[in-house]
Amino acid sequence: MAIGTAFTDEALERASLALNNHRAKDAERIAAEVLQVEPRHVHASHILGRALLAQGRAEDAVVLLENAARGKHDPEIDTTLAMALRQAGRSADALNRLRRTTKRHPRFAPALRELGSLLFALDQSEEAIEALEPRPDLILATGDLTDRGKPKEYRRLRKLLAHSSIPVFVVTGNHDDRGALRAAFADHPYLPQHGPLQWTVDVGPLRVIGLDTVRKRHPGGELDPERLLWLAERLEEAPARPTLIAMHHPPFAIGVGPVDAHGFRGVDALAALIASHPQVARIVCGHVHRAVTVAFAGTAASTAPSTAPQLVLDRAGALYRLRLEAAGFALHRWTGSRITSEVCYLDARGAPARAQLWGA
Ligand SMILES: [Fe+2]
Repeated sequence: MAIGTAFTDEALERASLALNNHRAKDAERIAAEVLQVEPRHVHASHILGRALLAQGRAEDAVVLLENAARGKHDPEIDTTLAMALRQAGRSADALNRLRRTTKRHPRFAPALRELGSLLFALDQSEEAIEALEPRPDLILATGDLTDRGKPKEYRRLRKLLAHSSIPVFVVTGNHDDRGALRAAFADHPYLPQHGPLQWTVDVGPLRVIGLDTVRKRHPGGELDPERLLWLAERLEEAPARPTLIAMHHPPFAIGVGPVDAHGFRGVDALAALIASHPQVARIVCGHVHRAVTVAFAGTAASTAPSTAPQLVLDRAGALYRLRLEAAGFALHRWTGSRITSEVCYLDARGAPARAQLWGA
């Protein structure tokens, strides 16, 4: 008996190693041999399930993993089973299992990540955000809310946002159309009816300012004298209120040539204005599909990861490439004396890299 256990342990160690080295067929063979001797071995069933899953045999993996899950309440097995169920097209079963697992094991990160990823894939990213504790006071959508600025795209966006019980504030980007955005969000009273889409909203002790950095028929950023004057007046009227500025284009280079080449007209005047208003605690931006943070004019300025494909940080390359990988967002919190920011991802495993070229 002792010899058998030692053999099993050693075999399963080899099988794990094979799996980790992407030799799924070897792992399958070894785990299957163990199961021939010990048909109810939980760990062997789990490894065989993982090996089958790695080879795209999700339905076979489900059978093995359900056996393993019956033999032991283990969050790791439950999470692998949920992944297999999802790949086998049984998303509702996967969701139920993950909800049960995360309830029992609220700190088990792989299950939480898989749940976030699944909710996102099921168009339930709002649920993933609303599940945050503490619950955010508002969601800032920092521009490029659509791809081509068409009314039907905004209708689809409104449908997606309709599930959110957290108020959403929108900023315009170079892929938006001011008129179509304004019409689609006509019930958002903070949006002005004419001119640039700039606004302020006070949330507790914090002032949030949305800026319109769109440059006509150009992917780059711009703040002309009219928009800067508006910002100066808003900053002057509440100099003691900690202020967060949300804008689409980052006012700094990120080190990726084709993106930086778009430029930002008026950025020096913006920097001078921010430098003379120390209440500006943070500038948050979108546009570049990647989290980058810099010191800017006496404050911190950052971009956020995208809820869509992410920018490939290929600083040596001449192409602006996007890749399907973890969707994410930035979470900002006013502590009473400063803003702390963290970057959250809904799928830390990353989706299969499907690189796609993006015209610079
Ligand atoms: Fe953009």
